[in-house]
Amino acid sequence: MVDVKKEEIFEALKAVIDPELKRDIVSLGMVKEVDVSGADVSVQIELTTPACPLKEQIASDVRRVLKGLPGMGQIQIRFTGRVAATEEKNSLPGVGHVVAVGSGKGGVGKSTVAVNTALALSRDGARVGLLDADVYGPNVPTMLGVHEPERVTESKIVPARKHGIRVLSMGFFLNPDQPVIWRGPMLHSAVKQFLYDVEWGELDYLIVDLPPGTGDVQLSLSQMIPVSGAVIVATPQNVALEDAAKAVTMLRKVNIEILGVVENMSYFICPHCSERVEPFGHGGAEAAAKEWCVRFLGRLPMDPAVRTGGDAGEPPALRDDELADAFRTIARNIAGEISTRQHGVPRSIALGKTSP
Ligand SMILES: Nc1ncnc2c1ncn2[C@@H]1O[C@H](COP(=O)(O)OP(=O)(O)OP(=O)(O)O)[C@@H](O)[C@H]1O
Ligand SMILES: [Mg+2]
Repeated sequence: MVDVKKEEIFEALKAVIDPELKRDIVSLGMVKEVDVSGADVSVQIELTTPACPLKEQIASDVRRVLKGLPGMGQIQIRFTGRVAATEEKNSLPGVGHVVAVGSGKGGVGKSTVAVNTALALSRDGARVGLLDADVYGPNVPTMLGVHEPERVTESKIVPARKHGIRVLSMGFFLNPDQPVIWRGPMLHSAVKQFLYDVEWGELDYLIVDLPPGTGDVQLSLSQMIPVSGAVIVATPQNVALEDAAKAVTMLRKVNIEILGVVENMSYFICPHCSERVEPFGHGGAEAAAKEWCVRFLGRLPMDPAVRTGGDAGEPPALRDDELADAFRTIARNIAGEISTRQHGVPRSIALGKTSP
């Protein structure tokens, strides 16, 4: 057997292009370690996020390229992931990226998407926090079955830990039976405290569940929170999309980038005849994403398990089935979109309008 040289391996791996970042994995610095033992090779690849949506494709491209080298034996690939923090000046200490989940409309699934995205990212190995900033109707405590912070010290709130993520909700401090009437300054100082007097620890992603609508509250919240980008949740019908368009306009006005659109309640599989039904029409949110020049992040079925899981504090992202896969795909697409933006991939290329 012929010994393979490290340099040959690095050279060969220059042919592997990261499908999101559109550059080769060697010049991106993703090839961290190459060990050669006789004809066998082990490669460590550091992804820009542990929730990389295209890990499998990169793995198969690496294998294909290395197999082409003469005398190659066993190939072992080890993936690690490191999220580079945002370089924005007013970012939260220790927090890599803040992702807000919003919509123009109430009840379309923001909290569901926020909770399950956070859990799916965490299952992929990312360090994740979830801030329920819905001051009027915080639902995260019920959806996760957690009702108080871990601790409150004199100067800091220590978020709860649940299913591997850090969680903080306005609901931890409110009487669940009383409606909340916030006046502007109170709201402002409450949210400020929620962000800045919290020991989040080291996080790759902090997911923020925003309240519904596009009023003053959302505006001041989105201005106060140093957001890397927002995810818009919409259902496919026109009326819902009209409201989502307002949210997009509002967020863009306050310089918050839109990471993409999730289509919720996209379809329903009849439990009796397995027919696929589309109560709100088909493809509306995907078309809207195109119009707004943002990524379509994926679709979620209308599934009773989403509602029962939400009510019981057992979110579907924790399951091992197709429903959990749908949430995982969305979470990975969000993580991938953040990486492409950080690497300055031109929008037209990232959205696949032109070839690289
Ligand atoms: N895909 C789905 N299938 C079934 N039920 C769903 C789905 N998405 C959301 N739901 C249910 O619909 C209700 C509203 O969802 P959710 O609370 O996530 O919406 P929201 O946009 O956060 O609402 P709000 O505007 O009140 O904050 C919840 O009971 C939730 O479990
Ligand atoms: Mg909500």
